[in-house]
Amino acid sequence: MPKLISLSADLKEAFQHLILQRTGLVIRPSDRDSFAKKISMRMDAVNFISPQDYYLLLESRTQESKEEWQNLVALLTNNESYFFRDKEQIHLLQNHILPKIIQKKQIEKTIRICSAGCSTGEEPYSLAIMLQELIPNYKQWQLSVFGIDINQIAINSARKAIYSPWSFRGVSEVIKGQYFQQVNQQYQLEPRIKNMVQFHLVNLVQDEFPFNDIDLFICRNVFIYFNAPAITKVVNKIYHALNPDGYLLTGHAELSGQNLSQFHRLSFSQSLIYQRRKEGEKQQEIRQPLTVKELTIPQFKPIKPAKTLPKPITVKTDPVPVKKQPIISPSPIKKEPVKPTVNKLLETAKNFIEQERYQAALEQFQQILDINSNHTDAAYWIAQIYANQGRYQDAILYCERLLKIDSLAIAPHYLLARIAEETGKLEEAKYLLKKIIYLDPNSVAAYLDLTHIYTQEGDERRAIKMYQESLNILQMLPPETPIVERGNLTASQLLLQLS
Ligand SMILES: C[S@@+](CC[C@H](N)C(=O)[O-])C[C@H]1O[C@@H](n2cnc3c(N)ncnc32)[C@H](O)[C@@H]1O
Repeated sequence: MPKLISLSADLKEAFQHLILQRTGLVIRPSDRDSFAKKISMRMDAVNFISPQDYYLLLESRTQESKEEWQNLVALLTNNESYFFRDKEQIHLLQNHILPKIIQKKQIEKTIRICSAGCSTGEEPYSLAIMLQELIPNYKQWQLSVFGIDINQIAINSARKAIYSPWSFRGVSEVIKGQYFQQVNQQYQLEPRIKNMVQFHLVNLVQDEFPFNDIDLFICRNVFIYFNAPAITKVVNKIYHALNPDGYLLTGHAELSGQNLSQFHRLSFSQSLIYQRRKEGEKQQEIRQPLTVKELTIPQFKPIKPAKTLPKPITVKTDPVPVKKQPIISPSPIKKEPVKPTVNKLLETAKNFIEQERYQAALEQFQQILDINSNHTDAAYWIAQIYANQGRYQDAILYCERLLKIDSLAIAPHYLLARIAEETGKLEEAKYLLKKIIYLDPNSVAAYLDLTHIYTQEGDERRAIKMYQESLNILQMLPPETPIVERGNLTASQLLLQLS
């Protein structure tokens, strides 16, 4: 065990300042004890007795100093990573951003992506897999993914591309089976993916990037450890290394409070993404339309069942046993006997939705409402399809219709909040989301949406509070609880993504 040296307050501060200057890393008050231990460990390892001498070694620009920085950085950085981390951002990349880049590069057939702060390689390799999946004739393309990180040990491990099961949290067995070979208890990545990725030891704050003309930078779960000036410096470097119209994706809320006037802000339901602005071009805030696939069906959940159950609806049909509705989990309103044709219509409508034939689905839902004007599932689907088509006024009318049936139903409130958000009515969105929290204090989706809005508004304090609240709830919920507004991810899966 190394002897724990005691650092004077001044010296502690000097070490922290030097580390911040050289790496951007902030030593938080809660980490200060362990920080002193780490300094002790390193002094012990290189046989230094005086902390002042160790400080001078770090401050110098010798080869010995460079090597020691490597050892110290390995103790100071958090290298947590896993494949396809943050499902929502992965969905955004797979369905919007990468297809856009691929389309733009059809003639040139060259794509260059960088994972900055790539740790042990899970993130750049996930990007390489996505590119190969999206480009059937990928062999005719020049696809380059760069992984850069300050930590030499992480880079060495990334280059080996052998992973333990822990790196595959939430990854489907199909992907694992397709791209990895099991060797004992570990998984070796296929050479055709491995060879697409080049790793470089790069300190984001100090070093020049060894490349340029990048189409997409991903820098996630890195800036959370930096102070604001270091973030500004790195974002500026990223800007210059990006192609015109190139993208920057960071972790949620990691750029709050930054001046990002060089970028357009593209606001998707899953995440904000920044796009390099051409010189002289006006900055734009671009909101992407809602998509039905992204908007999963929230349940019409009575908050306090005893008081808030909607009145039973009498349907003038021959009573038949009710089959469970496949689309939305039934609430008592849906357990009413219904005409078989309603079930059939619902089934057909659902098939149309799966085929993305929304107009045809709309007609089926309308027919259901002709039979039963209080059919909440049908009305909700119509509202959702209209919202997806940008017909917000029509969507709002259907939400209001639903709220007349059950004024405390969460789903129409949530859809109204999403529409308000999409149309820039942030005050209204906040009001609705707070109302949802009042009705259902465990609404993780409402807390996460509020996080997103406060982040957009630069209100970091509130954004962090909302984010913390959503984590607290997720930790409290039974792990298997589905979070319907988030694609039915379970509470534990969502927690993994967010933390
Ligand atoms: C928590 S990991 C994130 C890995 C990956 N981006 C992800 O989200 O799964 C943070 C990484 O940032 C790296 N890092 C921290 N400071 C850095 C710096 N100044 N330059 C380059 N990388 C840095 C760390 O070494 C670590 O590997």
